[in-house]
Amino acid sequence: MRFNYLKGCLVLVLILIGTTISLSQCPILPTPTIYQENKGAILLGEEISVNSNDLPDNIRTMLSRRLTEEFGIRMVVTPKSQKLSFHKLENVPQDFYSINVDENIRISYSSEASCFYAINSLFQMMSREEQGVNLIKCFVSDHPKYQWRGLHLDVSRHFFTVDEVKRYIDLMSYYKFNTFHWHLTDDQGWRIEIKKYPKLTSVGAYRDSTVIGHYNRSPREYEVKKYGGFYTQEEIKDIVLYAKKRYVTIVPEIEMPGHSRAALAAYPELSCTGETQNVPGLWGIFDDIYCSKEESIRFLQDVLDEVLFLFPSEYIHIGGDEAPKTKWKECEKCQKVIAQNGLKDEHELQSYFIHRMDEYLTAKGRKLIGWDEILEGGLSPNAAVMSWRGFEGGIEAAKQGHYVVMSPGSHCYFDHYQSTLSTEPVAIGGYTPLNKVYAFDPTPEDFSPAEASYVLGGQANLWTEYIPDFSHLEYMTYPRAIALSQTLWCTKKPSYEFFKEVLINHHLPFLKTKEVNYSEALFYPVMQIFEAENGLKIHFKGEGEYRYDLYVTTTDPAKALKGGMVVEKKDTLYFERLKGSDIHEYTFKLSNDLLTQPIIYHWTNHSMIGIKPLQKTTPSPQYPGNEISLSDGVFGAEPWKGYEWVGYRQSEPLIYIYDLGKSSVVEKVQISALEDEGSWIHLPQNFLVEVSKNNKKWKPVKSTSSVFSKSSGKGGFTSGILMNVKKVRYVKIVVQPKERIEGGKPGANNIPWTFLDEIRIIHRL
Ligand code: ACM
Ligand code: ZN
Repeated sequence: MRFNYLKGCLVLVLILIGTTISLSQCPILPTPTIYQENKGAILLGEEISVNSNDLPDNIRTMLSRRLTEEFGIRMVVTPKSQKLSFHKLENVPQDFYSINVDENIRISYSSEASCFYAINSLFQMMSREEQGVNLIKCFVSDHPKYQWRGLHLDVSRHFFTVDEVKRYIDLMSYYKFNTFHWHLTDDQGWRIEIKKYPKLTSVGAYRDSTVIGHYNRSPREYEVKKYGGFYTQEEIKDIVLYAKKRYVTIVPEIEMPGHSRAALAAYPELSCTGETQNVPGLWGIFDDIYCSKEESIRFLQDVLDEVLFLFPSEYIHIGGDEAPKTKWKECEKCQKVIAQNGLKDEHELQSYFIHRMDEYLTAKGRKLIGWDEILEGGLSPNAAVMSWRGFEGGIEAAKQGHYVVMSPGSHCYFDHYQSTLSTEPVAIGGYTPLNKVYAFDPTPEDFSPAEASYVLGGQANLWTEYIPDFSHLEYMTYPRAIALSQTLWCTKKPSYEFFKEVLINHHLPFLKTKEVNYSEALFYPVMQIFEAENGLKIHFKGEGEYRYDLYVTTTDPAKALKGGMVVEKKDTLYFERLKGSDIHEYTFKLSNDLLTQPIIYHWTNHSMIGIKPLQKTTPSPQYPGNEISLSDGVFGAEPWKGYEWVGYRQSEPLIYIYDLGKSSVVEKVQISALEDEGSWIHLPQNFLVEVSKNNKKWKPVKSTSSVFSKSSGKGGFTSGILMNVKKVRYVKIVVQPKERIEGGKPGANNIPWTFLDEIRIIHRL
């Protein structure tokens, strides 16, 4: 529905209060500061005259190309009559622009970049109609909130071609991102030609094998095939120029001291042991890192020399994350550096290492940025911090007066899952749907204006362990990147509902014309599971329900009826709890008119569905589940997606008490747990069962303990206790978590996570 705005100021007020009505008229994303629609529209014909006076050369070329390519309009540059005119402004906010569409179009801008932003906005306002290209008369005034609006790309785990990298940059520039963080080196491949050290690419750019599927799978399998590639310095210059023309700065990352196995494969003498090792085909964290001796530092400074020559960016990223200190502890050379420099420990040694790079970059007129681990052992004087392990590192750095880019895993890791469907392609883990990205704010609420001034902006990271090709990269990036652009650009971000409307109406169609393989997760209904009499109800709630026509089928209707399934409405199912030890599994298909393919759910009916525990140990607020998560018919799957397992982080026993309602014979108790040691999630030590007639006097069941073992088909590991105990009504399940993570494993000596899911108590009267 369309409304005519009465007054521009009213529009502004509506934008400021984040209301959803009428604003769908503004098709621009990220949403501009002011959008005021006027009466009427203009039509652009086959030709458009543009003034040449204040039109930067680069913009002229780009504008002409886009007008032809996207709208078939020929651009004629003239100093006189103009349909479209450009005006350079002074004394306005950084990167400010305005667009006035009346009979003619007038663009005012403060910088070349903002002239580019104006044109991006203008193109988003243009719509092709039968008579020509339509432009609604309006006034737009706009400028960005944050100066660092970043997208990152890891080209080490998987390699992307020059053309693919360019397409990534091109697309991000449409959404006014201005920083491309190019993760060029890591354990699994060195991707930048360094003339002084040719083996970095001749050896370090290739691995012999790559792990198949999720790296926590057991046993691991590998594809034995040479994999790799790198960018020559000429190619890098070409990409840097390509980005510059789109007002995108490339911040290169050279990882140190960790994530350096590819470099150490090429030059083993740079490690602590000097042992020759391959370029690994496995993901994760490796103990072998650069030795902190002078030779390694000089090597990295030499590498940086060539990097500085290629990349004009103010900031240079030196990594700094996930550097185990195992080898440094055992290395005489490292220990000597510690002693000679009066350092306390290996953390201070890392700080010393980063400090040396900071000094080096500062002397060359550049600035160092690194992941938040560079705070450990003391932050280097000029360093900026990229906060990825939550907001905390960024908060601490800003409080110390250092610049910060917020990129917390919770909101900004686009290698996480974006829907809860089991059909989602394998990802590293985590769950970061579109609305979560939209809710991101790089500046903590309680920051003072002075502290806030240190927040440069935010960035999403695309780690590519599980992103094997470019089409998949786009799937993980879009539309989440557009949601992020709102957060980083908008002075006052409108509501999520408003954003979604504009996204659906204007931007998904645009992405389609560009053949971007974006995710349709925003159209997936949310599955809500409710307790119901003698069972459960499952309700599928769609986004913007009026558009939806959900239907449900099962693969086996006969079995469905036997299992007590009833389709109550087209979006609601009822399941009557099964009796005895039966288990029925279902597959549902749901469709609606926005989805290109139906989506698929799996569900299991068993004898405990919908039964709440009488009492339970409170889970961690990070993975709380709900009252019936452990008996909702949805089994936790692998790889875990951050929502279907109930998580605990404690050494004390986890206790669940169930009331079976009547005095029963309990045949068997089963519980599943997850193992993902890379994420610090460990199997419990064991579990025990106690039974009671009255919920007061408890009797342990003889089978004293039970270990967890891999179950067939379902995710996780299952442990079962066979009992055959008669005349009990209450069952107490006691899960004993592992107390500490063993040495040598990720998170050693910390309390591990314990993740539980479906509990089944097989019982009869
Ligand atoms: C990181 O994700 N290790 C920075
Ligand atoms: Zn060493």
